[in-house]
Amino acid sequence: MENNQKIILSGIQPSGNLTIGHLAGALTNWQQLQDDYQCFYMIADLHTMTIRQEPSVLRDKTMDTIAMYVACGISPEKSTLFVQSHVPAHSQLQWILSCFTGYSECAKMTQFKDKSQAHSDNINVGLFAYPVLMAADILLYQADLVPIGDDQKQHLELTRNVAQRFNYHYSDTFKIPEPFIPKIGARIMSLQEPTKKMSKSDENEKNIIFLTDSDDQIRNKIKRSVTDSGTEIKCADNKPGITNLLTLLSVSTGNSLINIENNFIGKTYGDLKNTTADAIIEFIKPIRNEYEKIKLDKNYLNNIIKDGMEKANKTAFKTLCKVYKKIGLVQL
Ligand code: TRP
Repeated sequence: MENNQKIILSGIQPSGNLTIGHLAGALTNWQQLQDDYQCFYMIADLHTMTIRQEPSVLRDKTMDTIAMYVACGISPEKSTLFVQSHVPAHSQLQWILSCFTGYSECAKMTQFKDKSQAHSDNINVGLFAYPVLMAADILLYQADLVPIGDDQKQHLELTRNVAQRFNYHYSDTFKIPEPFIPKIGARIMSLQEPTKKMSKSDENEKNIIFLTDSDDQIRNKIKRSVTDSGTEIKCADNKPGITNLLTLLSVSTGNSLINIENNFIGKTYGDLKNTTADAIIEFIKPIRNEYEKIKLDKNYLNNIIKDGMEKANKTAFKTLCKVYKKIGLVQL
């Protein structure tokens, strides 16, 4: 039965606290997919190495992210939750795949170009090869579907190209994965600059609603969020601030945008902010409470990732052996 289930793999970097954007864009979907798919959900700790990390902070964030996955309903019984660096096959396969990836393929990645610009003092080879590590993450598990945000589509396209190239050379080895992009555009934007995606690594915390924020923090951030000129409350390209608040309200209540717009005819931006803050507070509270409880139980968390490590290693090692054999490495 389990073998017929399609496979899902996805991951988030433990480079900051998770935000309402992660909840709306990824974790809610991950949680729903667990019943119908065999899911591997990873903490992409190796991916954070492209930017200098404070070791103790990275360690804490990794455990915090696991606790948050669980608090958001990702079940360690249903899914495999694991830490990327606990599965050596990721790094091992990355090397092989990097020999099947063109220099120019990596050089043209939008994210590489953007990040090289943002960190021009540290354009390292890891940043360049980042999508190849991501390809290894995905291909090791023979994933059918990869839930990702828009910004990762290009990396998945590269994964597919590399996998097809390898399969063509050595016969079928990797499943060719498809991107899974959620139907509804629950894309949460920055609160102060609503034309930019909300990002956990944004330096300005006023831009972000963290899943760990207190009720007061949420209320203050929403109160100070940027709105647009005019008074009408509706989603529009020239109203990115209001669109974002409406999206947040929709995500937090499950109400459709159309319904919400209708409810706000004749009301003020202030009304929208109040209602949105209340809704987010209600939405996040149970998650935050659960997170705080789980976080205290270090044993429980350690057991989850130990179990995940074993399961993930088993699957990944199988693919790695297949690859080693096909390319002619001597195996004993
Ligand atoms: N690169 C992804 C991001 O920054 C995280 C990630 C790493 C990932 N490996 C992955 C996502 C494999 C999906 C599948 O968002």
